[in-house]
Amino acid sequence: MLDLLVHNATLPDGRTGMSLAVQDGRFVEVAAGLQAAARETLDAQGLLLSPPFVDAHFHMDATLSYGMPRVNQSGTLLEGIALWGELKPSLTQDALIERALTYCDWAVAKGLLAIRSHVDTSDPSMLAVEALLEVKRRVAPYIELQLVAFPQDGVLRSPGGLENLQRALDLGVDVVGGIPHFERTMADGAHSVKLLCEIAAARGKLVDMHCDESDDPSSRHIETLTYETQRLGLQGRVTGSHLTSMHSMDNYYVSKLLPLIAEAQVHAISNPLINITLQGRHDSYPKRRGMTRVPELMAHGVTVAFGQDCVMDPWYSLGCADMLEVASMGLHVAQMTSQAAIRQCFDAITKNPAKIMHLDRYGLEPGCNADFVLLQARDPVEAIRLRATRLKVYKRGKLVAESPAATAALHLDGRPAQTSLLR
Ligand code: FE2
Repeated sequence: MLDLLVHNATLPDGRTGMSLAVQDGRFVEVAAGLQAAARETLDAQGLLLSPPFVDAHFHMDATLSYGMPRVNQSGTLLEGIALWGELKPSLTQDALIERALTYCDWAVAKGLLAIRSHVDTSDPSMLAVEALLEVKRRVAPYIELQLVAFPQDGVLRSPGGLENLQRALDLGVDVVGGIPHFERTMADGAHSVKLLCEIAAARGKLVDMHCDESDDPSSRHIETLTYETQRLGLQGRVTGSHLTSMHSMDNYYVSKLLPLIAEAQVHAISNPLINITLQGRHDSYPKRRGMTRVPELMAHGVTVAFGQDCVMDPWYSLGCADMLEVASMGLHVAQMTSQAAIRQCFDAITKNPAKIMHLDRYGLEPGCNADFVLLQARDPVEAIRLRATRLKVYKRGKLVAESPAATAALHLDGRPAQTSLLR
Protein backbone atom coordinates (compact mmCIF):
# COMPACT_ATOMS: atom_id res chain seq x y z
CA MET A 1 0.00 0.00 0.00
CA LEU A 2 1.23 3.49 -0.88
CA ASP A 3 1.88 6.05 1.86
CA LEU A 4 0.27 8.87 -0.14
CA LEU A 5 -1.55 9.23 -3.46
CA VAL A 6 -2.13 12.70 -4.89
CA HIS A 7 -4.56 12.89 -7.76
CA ASN A 8 -5.87 15.45 -10.25
CA ALA A 9 -2.83 17.74 -10.03
CA THR A 10 -1.59 20.17 -12.67
CA LEU A 11 2.21 20.20 -12.93
CA PRO A 12 4.42 23.20 -13.79
CA ASP A 13 5.16 21.72 -17.24
CA GLY A 14 1.44 21.90 -18.09
CA ARG A 15 0.44 18.26 -17.64
CA THR A 16 -3.03 17.99 -16.09
CA GLY A 17 -4.96 15.23 -14.31
CA MET A 18 -1.72 13.90 -12.87
CA SER A 19 -1.35 11.46 -10.00
CA LEU A 20 1.74 11.22 -7.83
CA ALA A 21 2.35 8.09 -5.79
CA VAL A 22 4.55 8.37 -2.69
CA GLN A 23 6.28 5.60 -0.80
CA ASP A 24 8.96 5.97 1.92
CA GLY A 25 9.30 9.71 1.31
CA ARG A 26 9.88 9.45 -2.44
CA PHE A 27 7.76 9.65 -5.57
CA VAL A 28 7.48 6.14 -6.97
CA GLU A 29 5.16 6.84 -9.89
CA VAL A 30 3.91 9.98 -11.64
CA ALA A 31 1.27 9.42 -14.31
CA ALA A 32 -2.21 10.48 -15.35
CA GLY A 33 -5.12 8.95 -13.44
CA LEU A 34 -3.32 6.37 -11.26
CA GLN A 35 -5.50 4.05 -9.18
CA ALA A 36 -3.89 2.45 -6.14
CA ALA A 37 -4.54 1.85 -2.46
CA ALA A 38 -2.94 4.45 -0.21
CA ARG A 39 -2.98 5.28 3.48
CA GLU A 40 -3.54 8.96 2.62
CA THR A 41 -5.02 10.57 -0.47
CA LEU A 42 -4.98 14.21 -1.54
CA ASP A 43 -7.30 15.62 -4.18
CA ALA A 44 -5.46 18.49 -5.86
CA GLN A 45 -8.69 19.58 -7.60
CA GLY A 46 -6.84 20.49 -10.77
CA LEU A 47 -4.61 23.00 -9.02
CA LEU A 48 -0.87 23.50 -9.49
CA LEU A 49 1.45 21.12 -7.68
CA SER A 50 5.02 22.35 -7.76
CA PRO A 51 8.31 21.15 -6.35
CA PRO A 52 9.11 23.36 -3.34
CA PHE A 53 10.44 26.87 -3.74
CA VAL A 54 14.19 27.24 -3.39
CA ASP A 55 16.02 30.40 -2.32
CA ALA A 56 19.66 30.22 -3.38
CA HIS A 57 20.62 33.58 -1.89
CA PHE A 58 19.76 34.64 1.64
CA HIS A 59 21.31 36.08 4.82
CA MET A 60 19.84 34.19 7.75
CA ASP A 61 22.26 35.65 10.31
CA ALA A 62 20.86 39.13 9.71
CA THR A 63 17.20 38.33 9.12
CA LEU A 64 14.50 39.85 11.34
CA SER A 65 16.98 42.31 12.86
CA TYR A 66 15.35 45.36 11.26
CA GLY A 67 15.74 48.43 13.45
CA MET A 68 18.57 46.95 15.53
CA PRO A 69 20.25 49.15 16.65
CA ARG A 70 18.73 51.68 14.22
CA VAL A 71 17.28 51.80 10.73
CA ASN A 72 19.24 52.38 7.52
CA GLN A 73 18.57 56.07 6.81
CA SER A 74 20.13 56.37 3.36
CA GLY A 75 18.85 52.98 2.22
CA THR A 76 22.21 52.22 0.60
CA LEU A 77 24.20 48.99 0.50
CA LEU A 78 27.17 50.68 2.17
CA GLU A 79 25.13 52.07 5.09
CA GLY A 80 23.60 48.60 5.44
CA ILE A 81 27.07 47.05 5.73
CA ALA A 82 28.07 49.73 8.28
CA LEU A 83 24.85 49.14 10.23
CA TRP A 84 25.43 45.38 10.30
CA GLY A 85 28.91 46.20 11.69
CA GLU A 86 27.26 48.23 14.48
CA LEU A 87 24.86 45.40 15.27
CA LYS A 88 27.41 42.56 15.33
CA PRO A 89 28.96 43.31 18.78
CA SER A 90 25.55 43.00 20.44
CA LEU A 91 24.51 39.77 18.71
CA THR A 92 23.92 36.77 20.92
CA GLN A 93 23.83 33.23 19.70
CA ASP A 94 20.45 32.48 21.29
CA ALA A 95 18.76 35.54 19.78
CA LEU A 96 20.26 34.85 16.38
CA ILE A 97 19.07 31.23 16.46
CA GLU A 98 15.60 32.33 17.55
CA ARG A 99 15.28 34.85 14.70
CA ALA A 100 16.51 32.30 12.17
CA LEU A 101 14.08 29.66 13.42
CA THR A 102 11.21 32.14 13.15
CA TYR A 103 12.23 32.88 9.56
CA CYS A 104 12.34 29.15 8.83
CA ASP A 105 8.76 28.85 10.14
CA TRP A 106 7.75 31.53 7.65
CA ALA A 107 9.67 29.73 4.90
CA VAL A 108 7.89 26.42 5.49
CA ALA A 109 4.53 28.19 5.53
CA LYS A 110 5.43 29.65 2.12
CA GLY A 111 6.56 26.32 0.65
CA LEU A 112 10.23 27.35 0.71
CA LEU A 113 12.07 24.16 1.68
CA ALA A 114 15.67 24.77 0.56
CA ILE A 115 17.72 27.87 1.37
CA ARG A 116 21.32 28.81 0.68
CA SER A 117 22.29 31.33 3.33
CA HIS A 118 25.46 33.33 3.48
CA VAL A 119 26.88 33.62 6.98
CA ASP A 120 29.27 36.42 7.90
CA THR A 121 32.65 34.93 8.81
CA SER A 122 34.37 38.25 9.64
CA ASP A 123 33.93 37.87 13.39
CA PRO A 124 36.72 35.68 14.84
CA SER A 125 34.35 34.44 17.56
CA MET A 126 32.46 32.43 14.88
CA LEU A 127 29.26 33.29 16.78
CA ALA A 128 27.05 33.60 13.70
CA VAL A 129 28.65 30.57 12.05
CA GLU A 130 28.05 28.34 15.06
CA ALA A 131 24.51 29.69 15.46
CA LEU A 132 23.56 28.93 11.86
CA LEU A 133 25.19 25.49 11.98
CA GLU A 134 22.92 24.82 14.97
CA VAL A 135 19.91 26.15 13.01
CA LYS A 136 20.88 23.92 10.10
CA ARG A 137 20.80 20.88 12.40
CA ARG A 138 17.47 21.87 13.95
CA VAL A 139 15.60 22.59 10.70
CA ALA A 140 17.05 19.63 8.79
CA PRO A 141 13.79 17.63 9.08
CA TYR A 142 11.93 20.29 7.08
CA ILE A 143 14.42 22.70 5.41
CA GLU A 144 17.62 21.96 3.54
CA LEU A 145 19.86 24.81 4.71
CA GLN A 146 23.14 25.26 2.85
CA LEU A 147 25.64 27.73 4.33
CA VAL A 148 28.13 29.97 2.52
CA ALA A 149 31.23 31.32 4.30
CA PHE A 150 30.79 35.00 3.52
CA PRO A 151 33.58 37.46 4.44
CA GLN A 152 31.24 40.49 4.60
CA ASP A 153 34.07 42.93 5.43
CA GLY A 154 36.34 41.62 2.66
CA VAL A 155 38.52 38.53 2.93
CA LEU A 156 41.65 40.66 2.33
CA ARG A 157 40.35 44.00 3.62
CA SER A 158 39.46 42.79 7.12
CA PRO A 159 42.11 41.58 9.59
CA GLY A 160 42.18 37.78 9.74
CA GLY A 161 39.54 37.56 7.00
CA LEU A 162 41.08 34.59 5.23
CA GLU A 163 41.79 32.65 8.43
CA ASN A 164 38.28 33.22 9.73
CA LEU A 165 36.73 32.04 6.46
CA GLN A 166 38.84 28.88 6.56
CA ARG A 167 37.83 28.25 10.18
CA ALA A 168 34.17 28.48 9.16
CA LEU A 169 34.78 25.87 6.44
CA ASP A 170 36.55 23.68 9.03
CA LEU A 171 33.46 23.93 11.24
CA GLY A 172 31.27 22.55 8.44
CA VAL A 173 30.12 25.49 6.31
CA ASP A 174 29.36 24.14 2.84
CA VAL A 175 30.24 26.81 0.26
CA VAL A 176 33.05 29.36 -0.27
CA GLY A 177 31.83 32.97 -0.53
CA GLY A 178 33.49 36.28 -1.30
CA ILE A 179 32.90 39.96 -1.94
CA PRO A 180 35.57 41.13 -4.40
CA HIS A 181 33.99 44.55 -5.11
CA PHE A 182 34.31 45.43 -1.40
CA GLU A 183 38.07 44.79 -1.27
CA ARG A 184 40.25 47.92 -1.26
CA THR A 185 41.23 47.83 -4.94
CA MET A 186 40.21 46.13 -8.16
CA ALA A 187 43.52 44.22 -7.94
CA ASP A 188 42.75 43.02 -4.41
CA GLY A 189 39.26 42.03 -5.55
CA ALA A 190 40.69 39.93 -8.37
CA HIS A 191 43.26 38.43 -5.99
CA SER A 192 40.48 37.50 -3.55
CA VAL A 193 38.58 35.69 -6.32
CA LYS A 194 41.70 33.68 -7.20
CA LEU A 195 42.46 32.79 -3.57
CA LEU A 196 38.89 31.80 -2.75
CA CYS A 197 38.44 29.66 -5.87
CA GLU A 198 41.72 27.89 -5.05
CA ILE A 199 40.45 27.18 -1.51
CA ALA A 200 37.22 25.78 -2.96
CA ALA A 201 39.08 23.61 -5.47
CA ALA A 202 41.41 22.26 -2.78
CA ARG A 203 38.51 21.46 -0.44
CA GLY A 204 36.07 20.19 -3.07
CA LYS A 205 33.57 22.97 -2.23
CA LEU A 206 31.11 24.98 -4.29
CA VAL A 207 31.66 28.73 -4.73
CA ASP A 208 29.07 31.52 -4.46
CA MET A 209 30.39 35.07 -4.36
CA HIS A 210 28.69 38.39 -3.98
CA CYS A 211 30.15 39.67 -7.23
CA ASP A 212 30.02 43.20 -8.61
CA GLU A 213 27.11 44.35 -6.45
CA SER A 214 27.75 47.83 -7.72
CA ASP A 215 26.57 50.35 -10.31
CA ASP A 216 30.19 50.80 -11.41
CA PRO A 217 30.48 49.39 -14.95
CA SER A 218 34.20 48.87 -14.43
CA SER A 219 33.51 46.35 -11.65
CA ARG A 220 34.37 43.25 -13.70
CA HIS A 221 35.16 40.60 -11.10
CA ILE A 222 32.76 38.26 -12.87
CA GLU A 223 35.34 38.06 -15.65
CA THR A 224 37.99 36.86 -13.14
CA LEU A 225 35.47 34.46 -11.60
CA THR A 226 34.82 32.80 -14.97
CA TYR A 227 38.57 32.68 -15.67
CA GLU A 228 39.36 31.00 -12.32
CA THR A 229 36.45 28.60 -12.80
CA GLN A 230 37.96 27.47 -16.11
CA ARG A 231 41.51 27.37 -14.80
CA LEU A 232 40.65 25.26 -11.77
CA GLY A 233 38.14 22.96 -13.47
CA LEU A 234 35.24 24.20 -11.32
CA GLN A 235 32.68 24.30 -14.15
CA GLY A 236 29.11 23.97 -12.85
CA ARG A 237 30.24 24.53 -9.25
CA VAL A 238 30.55 28.34 -9.19
CA THR A 239 27.92 31.06 -8.85
CA GLY A 240 28.10 34.82 -9.22
CA SER A 241 25.51 36.51 -7.02
CA HIS A 242 24.05 39.94 -7.81
CA LEU A 243 26.25 40.85 -10.85
CA THR A 244 24.50 44.24 -10.85
CA SER A 245 27.38 46.11 -12.49
CA MET A 246 26.49 44.18 -15.65
CA HIS A 247 23.38 46.38 -15.86
CA SER A 248 25.61 49.42 -16.37
CA MET A 249 28.33 47.84 -18.52
CA ASP A 250 29.00 48.70 -22.12
CA ASN A 251 27.03 46.45 -24.49
CA TYR A 252 30.10 45.52 -26.50
CA TYR A 253 31.91 44.26 -23.42
CA VAL A 254 28.82 42.31 -22.29
CA SER A 255 28.70 40.65 -25.73
CA LYS A 256 32.09 39.15 -24.89
CA LEU A 257 31.30 38.46 -21.23
CA LEU A 258 28.07 36.47 -21.58
CA PRO A 259 29.64 33.68 -23.69
CA LEU A 260 32.54 33.50 -21.20
CA ILE A 261 30.08 32.97 -18.31
CA ALA A 262 28.21 30.32 -20.29
CA GLU A 263 31.42 28.57 -21.36
CA ALA A 264 32.62 28.31 -17.74
CA GLN A 265 29.17 27.08 -16.67
CA VAL A 266 29.10 29.78 -14.00
CA HIS A 267 25.61 30.23 -12.57
CA ALA A 268 24.01 33.59 -11.80
CA ILE A 269 21.74 34.71 -8.97
CA SER A 270 19.84 37.95 -9.17
CA ASN A 271 18.09 39.40 -6.12
CA PRO A 272 15.37 41.61 -7.62
CA LEU A 273 13.80 43.05 -4.45
CA ILE A 274 17.17 44.15 -3.15
CA ASN A 275 18.71 45.21 -6.45
CA ILE A 276 15.77 47.46 -7.35
CA THR A 277 15.92 49.15 -3.93
CA LEU A 278 19.72 49.40 -3.40
CA GLN A 279 21.09 50.06 -6.88
CA GLY A 280 20.98 53.39 -8.65
CA ARG A 281 21.12 55.24 -5.32
CA HIS A 282 23.79 57.62 -6.59
CA ASP A 283 21.72 58.46 -9.68
CA SER A 284 19.35 61.39 -9.94
CA TYR A 285 17.24 60.84 -13.08
CA PRO A 286 17.20 58.74 -15.14
CA LYS A 287 17.69 56.26 -12.29
CA ARG A 288 19.13 52.86 -13.17
CA ARG A 289 17.28 49.69 -12.17
CA GLY A 290 20.62 48.02 -11.55
CA MET A 291 19.45 44.41 -11.82
CA THR A 292 21.70 42.14 -13.86
CA ARG A 293 20.80 41.11 -17.43
CA VAL A 294 18.58 38.15 -16.57
CA PRO A 295 16.93 37.32 -19.93
CA GLU A 296 20.21 37.79 -21.79
CA LEU A 297 22.02 35.45 -19.37
CA MET A 298 19.23 32.89 -19.78
CA ALA A 299 19.35 33.21 -23.58
CA HIS A 300 23.05 32.29 -23.42
CA GLY A 301 22.19 29.12 -21.51
CA VAL A 302 23.31 30.37 -18.08
CA THR A 303 21.34 28.96 -15.14
CA VAL A 304 19.80 31.98 -13.41
CA ALA A 305 17.98 32.02 -10.07
CA PHE A 306 16.12 34.78 -8.27
CA GLY A 307 17.00 35.08 -4.56
CA GLN A 308 15.28 36.79 -1.66
CA ASP A 309 18.61 38.04 -0.17
CA CYS A 310 17.14 40.01 2.73
CA VAL A 311 14.05 40.02 4.93
CA MET A 312 13.71 42.72 7.60
CA ASP A 313 17.41 43.40 8.09
CA PRO A 314 19.87 46.33 7.78
CA TRP A 315 19.42 46.37 4.01
CA TYR A 316 15.70 45.77 3.55
CA SER A 317 12.73 46.37 5.83
CA LEU A 318 10.18 44.20 4.02
CA GLY A 319 9.80 40.61 2.75
CA CYS A 320 8.21 37.43 4.08
CA ALA A 321 9.93 34.37 2.57
CA ASP A 322 7.55 34.56 -0.40
CA MET A 323 9.52 33.44 -3.47
CA LEU A 324 6.51 34.23 -5.68
CA GLU A 325 6.91 37.87 -4.65
CA VAL A 326 10.59 37.62 -5.59
CA ALA A 327 9.73 36.16 -9.00
CA SER A 328 7.08 38.82 -9.55
CA MET A 329 9.55 41.62 -8.86
CA GLY A 330 12.14 39.93 -11.07
CA LEU A 331 9.83 39.67 -14.04
CA HIS A 332 8.73 43.29 -13.66
CA VAL A 333 12.25 44.68 -13.37
CA ALA A 334 13.54 42.52 -16.25
CA GLN A 335 10.38 43.15 -18.31
CA MET A 336 10.00 39.37 -18.72
CA THR A 337 6.30 39.65 -19.48
CA SER A 338 5.72 37.04 -22.21
CA GLN A 339 4.06 33.80 -21.10
CA ALA A 340 7.29 31.90 -21.79
CA ALA A 341 9.38 34.45 -19.85
CA ILE A 342 7.01 34.37 -16.86
CA ARG A 343 7.45 30.60 -16.76
CA GLN A 344 11.22 31.13 -16.84
CA CYS A 345 10.77 33.36 -13.77
CA PHE A 346 8.94 30.48 -12.05
CA ASP A 347 11.88 28.19 -12.92
CA ALA A 348 14.17 30.83 -11.37
CA ILE A 349 12.63 30.16 -7.93
CA THR A 350 12.30 26.37 -8.29
CA LYS A 351 14.45 24.15 -10.50
CA ASN A 352 17.20 26.68 -11.37
CA PRO A 353 18.22 27.39 -7.74
CA ALA A 354 17.91 23.65 -7.03
CA LYS A 355 20.50 23.05 -9.77
CA ILE A 356 22.73 25.85 -8.45
CA MET A 357 22.63 24.34 -4.94
CA HIS A 358 23.26 20.82 -6.32
CA LEU A 359 20.15 19.61 -4.48
CA ASP A 360 19.80 15.86 -4.57
CA ARG A 361 16.55 14.24 -5.78
CA TYR A 362 14.73 17.56 -6.39
CA GLY A 363 11.73 17.50 -8.70
CA LEU A 364 8.53 15.61 -9.42
CA GLU A 365 9.96 12.59 -11.22
CA PRO A 366 9.89 9.04 -9.84
CA GLY A 367 12.84 8.66 -7.48
CA CYS A 368 12.75 12.30 -6.39
CA ASN A 369 12.03 13.25 -2.79
CA ALA A 370 8.30 13.68 -2.21
CA ASP A 371 8.64 17.39 -1.39
CA PHE A 372 5.97 19.58 -2.97
CA VAL A 373 3.62 22.52 -2.65
CA LEU A 374 -0.03 22.63 -3.68
CA LEU A 375 -0.84 26.15 -4.78
CA GLN A 376 -4.17 27.93 -5.12
CA ALA A 377 -3.48 28.59 -8.80
CA ARG A 378 -3.90 26.71 -12.05
CA ASP A 379 -0.45 27.30 -13.57
CA PRO A 380 2.89 29.02 -12.81
CA VAL A 381 1.78 32.31 -14.38
CA GLU A 382 -1.30 32.47 -12.15
CA ALA A 383 0.82 31.45 -9.16
CA ILE A 384 3.07 34.48 -9.65
CA ARG A 385 0.17 36.81 -10.47
CA LEU A 386 -1.65 35.93 -7.24
CA ARG A 387 1.37 35.18 -5.00
CA ALA A 388 -0.81 32.10 -4.64
CA THR A 389 -1.76 30.66 -1.27
CA ARG A 390 0.26 27.57 -0.32
CA LEU A 391 -2.67 25.28 0.42
CA LYS A 392 -0.47 22.30 1.40
CA VAL A 393 3.27 21.89 1.85
CA TYR A 394 4.71 18.36 2.01
CA LYS A 395 8.22 17.26 2.96
CA ARG A 396 9.22 13.64 2.28
CA GLY A 397 5.55 12.79 1.83
CA LYS A 398 4.48 14.32 5.17
CA LEU A 399 2.34 17.45 5.58
CA VAL A 400 4.43 20.23 7.18
CA ALA A 401 2.23 23.31 6.58
CA GLU A 402 -1.21 24.22 5.29
CA SER A 403 -3.10 27.45 4.76
CA PRO A 404 -6.78 28.08 4.15
CA ALA A 405 -7.75 29.04 0.61
CA ALA A 406 -7.88 32.77 0.00
CA THR A 407 -11.40 33.83 -0.86
CA ALA A 408 -13.37 36.99 -0.33
CA ALA A 409 -17.10 36.97 0.37
CA LEU A 410 -18.89 39.42 -1.90
CA HIS A 411 -22.00 41.35 -0.96
CA LEU A 412 -22.97 42.64 -4.40
CA ASP A 413 -26.35 42.41 -6.04
CA GLY A 414 -26.33 40.15 -9.10
CA ARG A 415 -22.72 38.99 -8.62
CA PRO A 416 -21.28 35.71 -7.24
CA ALA A 417 -21.16 35.24 -3.48
CA GLN A 418 -17.40 34.94 -3.41
CA THR A 419 -14.21 35.31 -5.44
CA SER A 420 -10.78 33.74 -5.18
CA LEU A 421 -9.26 35.83 -8.00
CA LEU A 422 -8.58 32.69 -10.09
CA ARG A 423 -9.43 32.91 -13.79
FE1 FE2 B 1 23.51 38.95 -0.38
